[in-house]
Amino acid sequence: MTQSADEAARAPDFAGLRARFPIFERRTYINSCSYGALSLDVQNAIGAYLQSRHEKGSDWNAWIGKAESVRALLAELVNCDADEMALTGSVSESVNNLASAFDFSAGRNEVVLTDLDFPTTSQIWLARERAGARIRRARADESGAAIALAKFDRLISDKTLIVSIPLVCYRNGAMLDVGPIVELARSRGAMVLLDAYQAAGSMRLDVRALGVDFLVGGTLKYLIGGAGVGYCYVRAATKTDLTPVNSGWFAQEDVHAMDIYNNRPSHSARRFESGTPNVPGMYVAEAGLKLLMSVGLDHVRARILSLNAEIARRAIRHGWRIVGSADPALRGAMTAIKCADAPALVARLDARAITTSDRDGNLRISPHFYNDLSDIDRLFDALESERALIG
Ligand SMILES: Cc1ncc(COP(=O)(O)O)c(C=O)c1O
Repeated sequence: MTQSADEAARAPDFAGLRARFPIFERRTYINSCSYGALSLDVQNAIGAYLQSRHEKGSDWNAWIGKAESVRALLAELVNCDADEMALTGSVSESVNNLASAFDFSAGRNEVVLTDLDFPTTSQIWLARERAGARIRRARADESGAAIALAKFDRLISDKTLIVSIPLVCYRNGAMLDVGPIVELARSRGAMVLLDAYQAAGSMRLDVRALGVDFLVGGTLKYLIGGAGVGYCYVRAATKTDLTPVNSGWFAQEDVHAMDIYNNRPSHSARRFESGTPNVPGMYVAEAGLKLLMSVGLDHVRARILSLNAEIARRAIRHGWRIVGSADPALRGAMTAIKCADAPALVARLDARAITTSDRDGNLRISPHFYNDLSDIDRLFDALESERALIG
């Protein structure tokens, strides 16, 4: 995946970009795995939406235009055609709508999940057991942050309908090597769904190079937008014979048909949508995506890698245990440190105006392009004072 000449030519003004996030005047915010920081760009976009409500009341053409702009930006983000991108409200909605299209009674009925899943994807596939799905699970090793390819090799068979995996684990930042898993699935006739929520916006994603059939995510983390807008890439959606049972008027071939006698799903990925889009959410998502993409994803990834390398270096110097690989290049944007009492540590840091988060006994530190070394200095000063909670 190469950086365009244009992108490489201009190094971003990271200090100027940081100034567009007012939270840094008040807090050390280093928690983008949970929610991206709020930019002035997004604040202004919310203002523009409210202004359109005051001035026009209903401005549907413009609002649908916003949704189409978000669709195009997301398609560019993951390198697919706009026709292959569905807009939803969340990963949960995306996966529910996808899962509703599968027939588990026709030979292949197994769904391969992993120990690294975000709960919602596992839960949605488990809910399909009633429709005949059989769940198989690729177990993580003792570190809780890696799954050997051999485990997928043993589980994926000619009974596998779909392999549903996260790219980056939300608990510890572990990153799966997706290529060989896709190869295994393909060679055995199974499809692959990739949950890229913890990766999108922190690194370049290319669905064509990854070879996955579906990719889902949302816009509130490293895409620096907000809650209530998710997306779902559907490979070659225009040719798909997958017809979701979950449907609605925005999923129809002609949204304006208002035909109560027929269900005619769109030929595009829109068939995986349902009702009225989240209009204010589209303003927010568009502003976040535009700002992020103006920085350039290769610059974003390089910045995150260098910040995480510094975090890892300092943590290791203190003898603290990083969960999973200590090499940031083998992880998502998050560094997870094993703690004796992670929730208490997060609360103490919060009292010092430092925002992090915890999962599974790990302190999650998740920098983005707007963070800098001063954040890491403040964080580690505080961590040294609270070292008893790390253990
Ligand atoms: C990997 C991953 N998938 C999904 C979600 C959330 O899904 P939803 O958009 O349905 O709330 C998260 C949120 O933290 C996540 O980290």
